[in-house]
This record gives sequence, C-alpha cells and structure tokens, in this order.
Amino acid sequence: MTPTTKFWAVVPAAGVGKRMNADRPKQYLELAGKTVIEHTLLRLLSAEVFAAIAVAISSEDPYWPELEVSSHHQVITAPGGKERADSVLSALSAIRDVAADEDWVLVHDAARPCLTAADIHLLINTLVNDEVGGILALSSHDTLKNVQGQTILGTLDRSHIWRALTPQMFRYGMLKNALESGQGNLAITDEASALEIQGLQPKIVEGRPDNIKITRPEDLALAQFYMGQQHD
Ligand code: CTP
Ligand code: MG
Repeated sequence: MTPTTKFWAVVPAAGVGKRMNADRPKQYLELAGKTVIEHTLLRLLSAEVFAAIAVAISSEDPYWPELEVSSHHQVITAPGGKERADSVLSALSAIRDVAADEDWVLVHDAARPCLTAADIHLLINTLVNDEVGGILALSSHDTLKNVQGQTILGTLDRSHIWRALTPQMFRYGMLKNALESGQGNLAITDEASALEIQGLQPKIVEGRPDNIKITRPEDLALAQFYMGQQHD
C-alpha cells in the first residue's frame, strides 16, 4: 500500500425492500431510535477510515433528503440503478474524479446496520496487501442440501460453503472494470461475483454473525437484539 492509498465506502441504498413488505423501503424503517440507513452510515463514519461514503439512492426516494446524514460532508449521493450492481457502479462513478484506481473501496449494504468497526478493521487489516481483495463471510452451521422440487439430490460439503456478507473490499479500478464488463449479467449479485467471472480469486475473511441483512420483517427485532448486545 502506498502512503496515499485511500479507502472509500460505497453503500447501495436504492432497493425497494419487497420481501420486507413494509410501507417504505426497509432502509427507512425505524430501529432503536434511528432509521436503518442512519445506523449503517454512522457505523461506517465511526470507523474513521473512509475519505468519503458514496450512497446510491433511488430518484423516487423522498426519505433520504430528510435525514441529517444525507448532508454530512463525507457523504456523497449518487443515483440508484435497476439492480444492486447498477447502483454500486453509479456510486463508483460519482467518485471517479477523486478516487484512484489503486484505492480500496468497501461496498456495504444499507440494509446491514449492525456492522461493527471491529469487522471493518479486520477486513481492511487482513486484505490491505492482497492483490485482489475480498469479502466478509460466514460459514454455515446447518447441513446444506442440493434440492430439485422437493427432492434432495445430495448434501453439500459444508466445509467449502460460505455465506457472502458485506463489506466487500476491492481496488477501485478493478471493481469498476469488473462491474462495467458484467453489466446486465443477473448472476452478479455481489461485487465478488463480478471479479470471479473475470477469473480473479477474491478472499474470504470470517465476519461476525450479528452483521445481518434486514430482509424480512422478523429481522428488525433480531437487529435490535444484536445492537443491544454490542459493546465492542
Ligand atoms: N439495492 C440497490 N439498488 C437496487 C437494489 C438493491 O442499491 N436496484 C440495495 C438495497 O437498498 C440494499 C442492498 O442493495 O441495501 C441489498 O439488497 P436487498 O437486500 O436485496 O434489498 P432490496 O432489493 O431493497 O430488497 P428486496 O430484494 O426484498 O426487494
Ligand atoms: Mg433485492
């Protein structure tokens, strides 16, 4: 790492939260006195490593401008895109004049408000000298089945299966290039998959199980519980 290498955060926050089935996108639901996205951004800011945070927001989003954090001097707003990968690419484009190809970018879902500074620093410290970069991930406790219809075809070797979390940390230039090349490919559901398709081999770093993604209604209560347990 050269002394001038910077770290940037990118937060895709332009989803509608269909599976949450609420009256607004899930990032604007209340959790322990703040909206989900405020928790997420405050946790990224509190890590004190990012030059700025680029947040992708839908053009039809009336909630974002109402939040104080939207005008924070380290927060840059970019237009959201059709898929998550499009939103990430848009946020990367928003910092193209200030980010260098060699800088690191940590992409983190707006819907993961329980991220700890400890996990941010673990990811950075583990991968800062890596060629490619990588992601926080969790092993699976459950036995995993390969199923067709309702029939089990086999059992997966769990030792090789990890669940991808965020942040996902890659070099600015490499990530932007991979996402541009993969535009329209629906198999790209996270940043790592865009690089994998290019033949690159991102690493995993074991993250904390409390870094959940708010996806379904019951996840809000779980996030609230985890926040109450976090004192480190
Ligand atoms: N996201 C985005 N742009 C999109 C789709 C998703 O920025 N076009 C963001 C979401 O806001 C979220 C993150 O990507 O922070 C992870 O996506 P997901 O959990 O799937 O959120 P939603 O797409 O909003 O939820 P759902 O799939 O249930 O509709
Ligand atoms: Mg989605």
